[in-house]
Amino acid sequence: MDGRDLVRSMKAVGPVGAFQGLRTVKAAWRRRRADATGLPVRGPERARVPGLVQEVEPGPGGGTLRFSRSELTIRVAVNGAVFWGWDGAGPEPSYALADRCPEPDPRAVLEPDKDGGWRVVAERVTVVVSRHGAVEVCTPGGVMLRRDLPPRWWEPQGGGPARWMQRSEVAADARCFGLGGRASGPRLRDGTYRLWNTDPGHAFDREDDPLYLTMPVQLVVADAGTHLVFHDTSWDGTVTLREGEEGAGSGHDRPGACEMRMDGGPLRCWVMVGTPARVLLAWASLTGAPALPPAWALGHHHARWGFGSEQEVRRIVAGYHEHGLPLDAVHLDIDHYDEHQVFTVDQDRFPKLSVLAEELRRDGIRLVSIVDPAVKATPGNAVYDSGVAEDAFVRDASGRLVEGVVWPGEAVFPDFTHARVRQWWGGLYAERITQGFAGFWHDMNEPTSFVAFGESTLPRSARHSLEGRGGDHREAHNVYGLCMARAAYEGLRELVPDQRPFVFSRSGWAGLQRYGGTWSGDVATGWPGLRASLSLVMGLGLCGVPYSGPDVGGFDGSPSPELYLRWFQLGAYLPLFRTHASLRAGRREPWEFGPEVLEHARVALVERRRLVPYFVTLAHIARRTGAPYVRPVWWGAAGNRALRDCEDAFLLGDCLLVAPVLDPGADRRSVQLPRGRWYDTATGRAYEGPGQVLVDAPLSRIPVLARAGAVIPVRGDDGGLELEVWAPVRGRTGGGLVVRDAGDGWAEPEIERYVARWEGPRVVVEREGEDGVRVPSHPVRVRGLGRR
Ligand code: GLC
Repeated sequence: MDGRDLVRSMKAVGPVGAFQGLRTVKAAWRRRRADATGLPVRGPERARVPGLVQEVEPGPGGGTLRFSRSELTIRVAVNGAVFWGWDGAGPEPSYALADRCPEPDPRAVLEPDKDGGWRVVAERVTVVVSRHGAVEVCTPGGVMLRRDLPPRWWEPQGGGPARWMQRSEVAADARCFGLGGRASGPRLRDGTYRLWNTDPGHAFDREDDPLYLTMPVQLVVADAGTHLVFHDTSWDGTVTLREGEEGAGSGHDRPGACEMRMDGGPLRCWVMVGTPARVLLAWASLTGAPALPPAWALGHHHARWGFGSEQEVRRIVAGYHEHGLPLDAVHLDIDHYDEHQVFTVDQDRFPKLSVLAEELRRDGIRLVSIVDPAVKATPGNAVYDSGVAEDAFVRDASGRLVEGVVWPGEAVFPDFTHARVRQWWGGLYAERITQGFAGFWHDMNEPTSFVAFGESTLPRSARHSLEGRGGDHREAHNVYGLCMARAAYEGLRELVPDQRPFVFSRSGWAGLQRYGGTWSGDVATGWPGLRASLSLVMGLGLCGVPYSGPDVGGFDGSPSPELYLRWFQLGAYLPLFRTHASLRAGRREPWEFGPEVLEHARVALVERRRLVPYFVTLAHIARRTGAPYVRPVWWGAAGNRALRDCEDAFLLGDCLLVAPVLDPGADRRSVQLPRGRWYDTATGRAYEGPGQVLVDAPLSRIPVLARAGAVIPVRGDDGGLELEVWAPVRGRTGGGLVVRDAGDGWAEPEIERYVARWEGPRVVVEREGEDGVRVPSHPVRVRGLGRR
């Protein structure tokens, strides 16, 4: 055990007493022993490269190229995505793919290229393969977006999974985003990023990496085009990135470099090219449409580890009411469980939980429950007993149940990679529904098991079903949270078929959006944590998971009033707007920071409530197109380099640009504007983009700018829907989409399309339909008319 481990074990001791300390020492030894005997010994390895191409065989969407020591299958799918797999790897089975793999595009043809190479030519992309097995992805115009050099494998001579390495090059001007939730981003600078979902064990900062939700998805943006590359393997690995350098006219650019090293799993990948919007659309069609949250989940949530009692929950809710603060959901953490056991309630401190839930619901407030995967390993615990009867828990290589340590003490872990186990687990939410819970917050599902030393997760040798294929934790670890989310989502669809499941999960993997969203996890209270919060939301959105948000105010400690307020103001424009903090942290209620903060927080809350119809529209757009609610400012202009390097502002849908204050003491800030006219929504002042402008950012608000011509659905004073329209530039038109839904349920709402245009001295707004234009059925308020 080194010093760091010791500190970590002390931290693990913290919240649950010295007791846990001893247990975590034992658990660490158990884990080490399991892996000492349960994992194959890696003997000497043999390195391999593909060799030279020997023959080719055209096939649907491309074909197969046989090299002397490997083979490569390329397949362009009908949605324009390119798949390739080495050594016989096909697209399935895959935890990332939504349903079935998309059909191959019959128009894509394999043909000879220069120097003994081959190429697959498709409508939107050309894939060029050299005779040594380098793979280039090019635009139809022939500009190279990505070059993968011939891969290299290391095969254990005694058999077992081969490690592999893939080096790639991208344009010298390329910027890379994604790899799941990264605190240091959103732009991924030079460094090594690990692909292993990890609970850092403490409140994390910008430099902590990896975190809870990693995925091998990179979005690469360059002048020549944007592409998304997904290496479909769930094994542990690293991605080392080095940004390129342009030779300032010398013609000697140094390309950007990416080196991926994986401990196992197939070497296969998907690449999608186009604009950011097109790429995310293809990604969503491959891995699934983002689940639609119920409208209440787009409001404000208040959580706390340690409400401790029904009275305290009532006190907090009353505080919101007394201070005139909108509230939509309250989250109960593990302290409402009976001795931290999942799917139980502490009857002493929460004796009438369902009554409380009912009362809250009458006030329009939903209750959300934390759900941890670890089940206390004690006969008499109903979940444990039924799980044992179901043979639901993960076992080690010798067939014994794997025991770890989590909040309830010694605990076992459901194997969510088994359909039968998912079904059983999904059914357990019936108890939560009876208690009156409307939403679910999945935690500790990396999965985390406290250890005094070593990795705080299950042994790598732990066995998993992997849908009947069989395998171990090395392969199952990264998809554990994803499969747990699936279990909940599918269970809830059966239990409450008329409602949209609301699930958000700390851990996950490619495809998580099908079942729900995520949140930051335990972000450290401090200005860097505030910046990390935005990085996580943006990065995850670019990996296809559009619904997320941070613990407003940070998870630990006590934010200064200014920091709290700035976090609150940012949170008000993120999909998941949730205040949350640790058991030992200071208060987080808006009224705890003095009258000035209270006043400004109220403005943020009221504005969020006003914008809920816009958030609902964005949720529908995300579901239909994969476009995240929160987008980098370069979303529609990936060729603009100044925008590409802007990390401190974001577009909320098409209409708004939000420029949060991320530093202390600021009362104005510079904002990088995309092309067009932008109105400061507070002052109405117009700015012209592209370019950088200085905008006021007093403590009372963060700058939010509206695009000229935007049509934004908002909640009017009477609770009905209103259209807020920002005057288009003279001589131009504007417009926008509005998706109004019932707030929950599955009825497919109509998409309303509006246009805004000048007619003489007036701005006119009309609804466009197949049968022509008509007057909008909602009240319209035009802004940005200035002094005219
Ligand atoms: C983890 C979660 C945090 C939660 C705590 C207790 O640290 O990330 O949100 O409050 O566990 O359940």
